[in-house]
Amino acid sequence: MDSALVLSNEALSKNIYLLTLHIDSQKASKFKPGQFLKILFDDQRLDPLIPRPYTVHTLSDNRLQILYQVVGKGTTALSKVIAGQVLRFLGPLGKPFPEDLPLPLGLCAGGVGVAGFSFLLQKLPPSHLKSVKLYYGTKTKEDLVRLELFESFGIDIELATEDGSLGNKGFVTDILEKDLKRQGISTVLACGPRGMLKRVKELAERHSIKAYLVMDTFLACGTGFCKGCVIPRKGGGFFHLCEDGPTLPAEQVDI
Ligand SMILES: Cc1cc2nc3c(=O)[nH]c(=O)nc-3n(C[C@H](O)[C@H](O)[C@H](O)COP(=O)(O)OP(=O)(O)OC[C@H]3O[C@@H](n4cnc5c(N)ncnc54)[C@H](O)[C@@H]3O)c2cc1C
Ligand code: FES
Repeated sequence: MDSALVLSNEALSKNIYLLTLHIDSQKASKFKPGQFLKILFDDQRLDPLIPRPYTVHTLSDNRLQILYQVVGKGTTALSKVIAGQVLRFLGPLGKPFPEDLPLPLGLCAGGVGVAGFSFLLQKLPPSHLKSVKLYYGTKTKEDLVRLELFESFGIDIELATEDGSLGNKGFVTDILEKDLKRQGISTVLACGPRGMLKRVKELAERHSIKAYLVMDTFLACGTGFCKGCVIPRKGGGFFHLCEDGPTLPAEQVDI
């Protein structure tokens, strides 16, 4: 396990936080977009016992950021850490996003599923950014966080909220579908709730385009040891999310 110094831990909305860590720069250079780390508290606490997984949101030099939503014990405990505290982490874990994703690329995000796309955008060649479009949807406008960061990449952005408080009213996949009908997208990389991923998979099949889904399940060891993180594979068998994923080809996943 490595150590990380907490630089800040800021509430961006009622339940969404931005954690900024200082980590060893040699370790930082090993992370690739799409990979994740598991965070443990450095104070002998037994609850939560199992470190929780988080995607790298941004990474520059030795500043690593995590964008997270509070949903239970582990994320509540994380929301209480303050600058100057030391955390421990295990990572990089999992496989990076596929390299050379065919353009035009659609990034489809539901809620904090948007977290890992910024690190990808940081690493893409600048000439590719004009062929990337972000589809970012949440329940309501308060949860559409980090818009300035995503706008700073100069990419096309479509926003959707279920209550219509900002952007298009409805699901983010409705906007994606319109662009797929216009044949404006070659590849989709999607991260968000299961229902959204299921819809992206259906749309990709209907419009014959390649899609990758960033999946989520409970991870215990995170390193391929416990074999608990199963995701059903289409046609039988299973993926182990921490080893084979978290990004999986949509056509191979049974949702
Ligand atoms: C590879 C990977 C990367 C992730 N990256 C991020 C990230 O960058 N930002 C972020 O906010 N979250 C991320 N998550 C999800 C995050 O790890 C979970 O929200 C967190 O572990 C919940 O811990 P908890 O102790 O707060 O909740 P718990 O007390 O363990 O659970 C609270 C509730 O959430 C449900 N739940 C918990 N974990 C999951 C899960 N993995 N999938 C579905 N339901 C779950 C439980 O069933 C329960 O209902 C990621 C998950 C994975 C697998
Ligand atoms: S979490 Fe243990 S094998 Fe994946």
